[in-house]
Amino acid sequence: MSAFDRSGGALSCERVPLADLAAAHGTPLYVYSATTIAERYRAVDQAFAGYPHAMHYALKANSTLGIARYLRSLGAGADANSGGEIEIALRAGFTPPQIVFTGVGKTDTELGRAIDLGVRSINAESENELVRIERLAAAQGKRARVAVRVNPDIDARSHPHISTGLKSNKFGIALDDARDVCARMRERPGIEIVGLHSHVGSQITELEPLRRAAQTLVTLARELKGVGVPIDHLDIGGGLGISYDGRQVPSAEDYAAVVLPVLRDSGMTVILEPGRFLVGAAGVLVSRIIDIKPQPGGKLFVILDAGMTELIRPMLYNAYHRIEPVESSDRPGVLCDVVGPLCETSDTLGKDRQLPEPRVGELMVVYDTGAYGSVMASNYNRRPMPAEVLVHDGSATLIKRRQTIDDLVALES
Ligand SMILES: Cc1ncc(COP(=O)(O)O)c(C=O)c1O
Repeated sequence: MSAFDRSGGALSCERVPLADLAAAHGTPLYVYSATTIAERYRAVDQAFAGYPHAMHYALKANSTLGIARYLRSLGAGADANSGGEIEIALRAGFTPPQIVFTGVGKTDTELGRAIDLGVRSINAESENELVRIERLAAAQGKRARVAVRVNPDIDARSHPHISTGLKSNKFGIALDDARDVCARMRERPGIEIVGLHSHVGSQITELEPLRRAAQTLVTLARELKGVGVPIDHLDIGGGLGISYDGRQVPSAEDYAAVVLPVLRDSGMTVILEPGRFLVGAAGVLVSRIIDIKPQPGGKLFVILDAGMTELIRPMLYNAYHRIEPVESSDRPGVLCDVVGPLCETSDTLGKDRQLPEPRVGELMVVYDTGAYGSVMASNYNRRPMPAEVLVHDGSATLIKRRQTIDDLVALES
């Protein structure tokens, strides 16, 4: 049974009515189900059971400390995509060996910090970056553990803005160059090449690109071993998609069934960096209808108190999120555009939606917003960021209070 349930007539999260949470914490409000996160984490962990694996949760999907800490408590490591995310990982209690550090443009300061901490691996994106890592590590008298991010030139068949594995994308070292780069870097004293990495995109719902990417790493690792570069892990990134519209998508078991036979051949530990798959379906955005306006032709604008400042995915990627009233209703359906309150025409959360005749003041829920929701929130139009609540087995914890105007101006003079 889903953690988000209507059996009482109104939507609840792990038996806590969303209306109660909205009354206590205001709207817009992010609400997360801890049980859903745990179920999704265990599904991946069990799918890879029997093969040496480590899950490094991609903090970029949702790095609110309460969520990061909860994933750590389940056994996850962390994938940090910036110096800021490394610091968040540490504050969430991850130790350096539990952190991998990825990112297409890492500054010397960020790299120096990762080297000093001794993170499990720095996923290096270019030969220049490898040279910088080696120089920075040598200056610290250390040997940095790196994985070389390979660009396998694979089309993840996801949205172009979140596809990262094509050679026309800015990520990683071209497959054709990777072998020579590794061979050139292997003798350097400040660097130890311990792994290979690839991440071909996000919201991937076809498994073949993920299988091909894993195969590319296995083949390259074998070649490198032949020239004296012993790799100990293959990091196959994240990317597994979720169903935003009810359509069938691959499960964790389907994913493992496709990549494990490829990886088994190598015998190497596999690192996984799932983000969206773990937290996407665990979150909802609760919002209140501020106003309703008729449009020419009979459609209605339903104006919410949440918009692109709280959830930018629909505007950035044309992403679809289910939107429903929190209270169940048998009112007749009306065609609506669900929009936010910002001064931007693109501030639209859902176009052409059939909703039970909406009412001003009514609570609405936007589903599947646990990933790339609150982390991408902004203060545009001087809007304070929403509060966030983590619900676990009937009890709700405020894990992020709503920003205040004082918070917004705290850095200004
Ligand atoms: C390097 C890397 N790893 C992991 C992820 C997480 O991806 P997802 O949330 O699709 O699992 C991303 C996101 O794009 C990423 O860039």
